[in-house]
Amino acid sequence: GLDGFDHYMLKEIYEQPESLRNAMRGRLDDQNATAVFGGLNLTPQQLRSVERIILTGCGTSWHSALVGEYLIEELARIPVSVEYASELRYRNPPIENNTLVFGITQSGETADTLAALNETKRKGHRTLAICNVVASSIAQAADGGVYLHAGPEIGVASTKAYTSQCCVLAMLALYFGRMRHLSFEGGQRLIEELRLLPNAVQQALTCNEQVKDVAKKYASANNVLYLGRQYNFPTALEGALKLKEISYIHAEGYPAAEMKHGPIALVDDATPSVFIVPAGGTYDKVMANMEEVKARGGPVIAIASEDDPHVHQIADDVIHVPQVQQFLQPIVTVVPLQLLSYHIALIRGCDVDKPRNLAKSVTVE
Ligand code: M6R
Repeated sequence: GLDGFDHYMLKEIYEQPESLRNAMRGRLDDQNATAVFGGLNLTPQQLRSVERIILTGCGTSWHSALVGEYLIEELARIPVSVEYASELRYRNPPIENNTLVFGITQSGETADTLAALNETKRKGHRTLAICNVVASSIAQAADGGVYLHAGPEIGVASTKAYTSQCCVLAMLALYFGRMRHLSFEGGQRLIEELRLLPNAVQQALTCNEQVKDVAKKYASANNVLYLGRQYNFPTALEGALKLKEISYIHAEGYPAAEMKHGPIALVDDATPSVFIVPAGGTYDKVMANMEEVKARGGPVIAIASEDDPHVHQIADDVIHVPQVQQFLQPIVTVVPLQLLSYHIALIRGCDVDKPRNLAKSVTVE
């Protein structure tokens, strides 16, 4: 049931501290400073010989693949490519030996993801699923995999499955990293950060009342831009998709610095931009992009770290999230964006759990 929440989407947003704990349960190995997975069905030798990784999926799961690309390349130094499953299944790209293919899917029933996995498997590549629904078609088709253990996700807009996908990908990056160059201490530090995550997400949820006010202010917009860089570029795409899906407002996500190559032409006083600008390497650059938008009269909503002293000077509205290491930021910064789309959709009278034209799993191509 709804456990007192008005909608499944809101309930599932609030379940995230718990679903993240479940994703990590039994998988953090302090003794070896690595992660452990029960169902990969590959020997350490086979996993050690992986030279390339393909991450494939659709929609929100594809966004988590983009986060996974940053994670695995940074922490494990394995080259990753991200593919839309619907494209991969027909594109016939050359795939090198020792490539491992991950199909990422909440439902485990998405037709394109299943077909992309079967096609790469048929060609002789190893396939794994990162999946929520146990014994689903994709979980069965893959050679092995990792379950999210997020519990049933009923709302059509994916929320807790997304953060759990990002979390599992972070643990996989730790695991592959520890088979390679990542030191014991390096592994320990990542584990410590992962353990802080559920509480950080819990704290991020306390922005709900403030997000409600921000939603009131911007609920009548016809277009919204979402901008972020590096680990938070996928967050921008995901924030935009959530808004489109359930409020039917046109929204676009971009890497913040791509603005000036076109999308900035859209900026006017009726087009808000949501900047994801937590502390980190590109903070100053994203702030500069924010000033460019302000200078053109665009309203700015910022998702920023808790103690950010500067962002108020530029942004019209600031939603603070707890500070976590950059590799885990997408899991925290997406929370206010999930809530923002929820509240805007409610104000606009939309059916948030069953948005028009959409189904929970897309079993046709
Ligand atoms: O079940 P899957 O993760 O394979 O589903 C993939 C997409 O259909 C799904 O993420 C879709 O984009 C959601 N409605 C996003 O909220």
